[in-house]
Amino acid sequence: MTLLMWNPDWETGFPLIDTQHQELFRRVDALMSAIHMDDARQTVPGLLNFLADYVVEHFQAEEAEMVASQYPGLDQHRQIHADMTAKVGAMLKQFETDPTCITDEVLEFITEWLVLHINGVDRQMAHYLIRWAATHPPAQA
Ligand SMILES: [Fe+2]
Repeated sequence: MTLLMWNPDWETGFPLIDTQHQELFRRVDALMSAIHMDDARQTVPGLLNFLADYVVEHFQAEEAEMVASQYPGLDQHRQIHADMTAKVGAMLKQFETDPTCITDEVLEFITEWLVLHINGVDRQMAHYLIRWAATHPPAQA
């Protein structure tokens, strides 16, 4: 059952980032569904790690794009990512001692954060990356 629907309005126009954002939503959605299932004890730990790993992978991918294009907002954006990575890390740690800590509210917080982040700083970054790519074509082989 899908609880969380991706909204095409959230696309930034930068394909790599949009694809990864949709994957993030799929992983949050899988977790949202899993916490209410009878077999949650078996499935939630794996899905939680699956999501946490992808958050890190995605932030690194965005940061690599920002570095490559000399994005002026890199430091600020990187700090926002670091703060969220720390929150997710704290959540994983708490989960070790309290498997009930992953609640609807926690996942709604993550979803709201993602939507705001995507439509705010990510959109600004993507516009810059698109302009950069248009004015800096890759060297011909
Ligand atoms: Fe970002």
